[in-house]
Amino acid sequence: MKKILVTSLVAALYSSVAVAENPIKMDDQSQLSNIQAVNESTQYHQPPLEKDLPDNAYGEMVRKGHAIFVDTKNQVPEYVGNGMNCVNCHMDQGRLANAAPLWGAYPMYPAYRSKNNKVNTYAERIQGCFQFSMDGTPPPADSEAMTALITYSYWLATNAPTGVSLPGRAYPSVKQPEGGYSIERGAQVYADNCAFCHGADGMGQKVAENYVFPPLWGKDSFNWGAGMHRINTAADFIKANMPLGKGNSLTDQEAWDVAAFMNSHERPQDPRLVDGSVEKTYEKYHANDGVNLYGQEVNGKILGQGVQ
Ligand code: HEC
Ligand code: HEC
Repeated sequence: MKKILVTSLVAALYSSVAVAENPIKMDDQSQLSNIQAVNESTQYHQPPLEKDLPDNAYGEMVRKGHAIFVDTKNQVPEYVGNGMNCVNCHMDQGRLANAAPLWGAYPMYPAYRSKNNKVNTYAERIQGCFQFSMDGTPPPADSEAMTALITYSYWLATNAPTGVSLPGRAYPSVKQPEGGYSIERGAQVYADNCAFCHGADGMGQKVAENYVFPPLWGKDSFNWGAGMHRINTAADFIKANMPLGKGNSLTDQEAWDVAAFMNSHERPQDPRLVDGSVEKTYEKYHANDGVNLYGQEVNGKILGQGVQ
């Protein structure tokens, strides 16, 4: 009896050694970076069409997930703290390549993220966007809202392979220009290309209670803990997707400058605030999180105070 146990332990040991010799790359998916070249011949995953949805409980759950994704603030107000909807950053209903499509995300979890230093399930990844991008209280992993969002993502990923980073996932990375970035130049890029929709004051524009052009800073925007607060991530998103309908029309320099300008304004506090101190929060969460202005002095003010 004992001998068999020992033998199987040895076998297990050997097989783990074999795995270690051919390790699966354990990359950190906190900061996504899609460095795959994009050109006109790139073939993207084709998610199914709504008309192909079955008329059953599964189809109904997919529809519910879609509704929450495009109209988050109204559908699940209890989980949303700002004026945003998921679709504001994951465009065309979470379908658009190079705008962090859900079909690019779903097959890549569970995955390690240094952001919380653990392996995250797909539900935990979505909870992250609720906590930071939506400045809210994440729905529990076993809630109906979460089931709906996961089912919607699973459906969009129909026929996609698991564990393969597909072309069009996340936002294509835009390298920081050699001369860095300029908030001042960014203000001009903003006035010329963005203010028309997002407002000169960055507060977006509402029709009745709903934003038709989402805010870029201020109390109804994403908070200081969101991925979009990084200038590099914002530059990636903006270059590929903004101005709306004219993606890839800004130069890399303009994308970085306007991203820096956008992220040099106040927004809701990082919910991970340590001991009420911007400095401590900077040390713990922002010092090594890409390029960002949290805790930095801009125009005589320390950023990261938060707005309510
Ligand atoms: C023609 C109108 C229009 C223009 C011009 C425009 N945007 Fe947008 N922008 C939108 C809309 C609409 C959305 C939300 C997309 C959706 O929900 O599908 C959006 C979303 C965004 C987002 C993500 C959501 C958020 O609020 O944080 C950012 C960041 C952004 N735009 C930045 C910019 C920047 C920077 C420029 C100028 C370079 C710009 N936009 C120009 C209409 C516009
Ligand atoms: C303010 C913009 C913004 C909003 C609003 C937003 N997200 Fe995100 N989301 C991002 C960014 C940026 C990333 C990439 C994270 C990074 O690089 O740090 C991301 C990543 C994700 C991922 C993982 C993508 C991948 O390929 O691994 C999922 C899933 C996701 N978001 C779902 C959601 C859902 C669901 C909502 C609404 C409840 C939402 N997001 C709202 C900006 C946003």
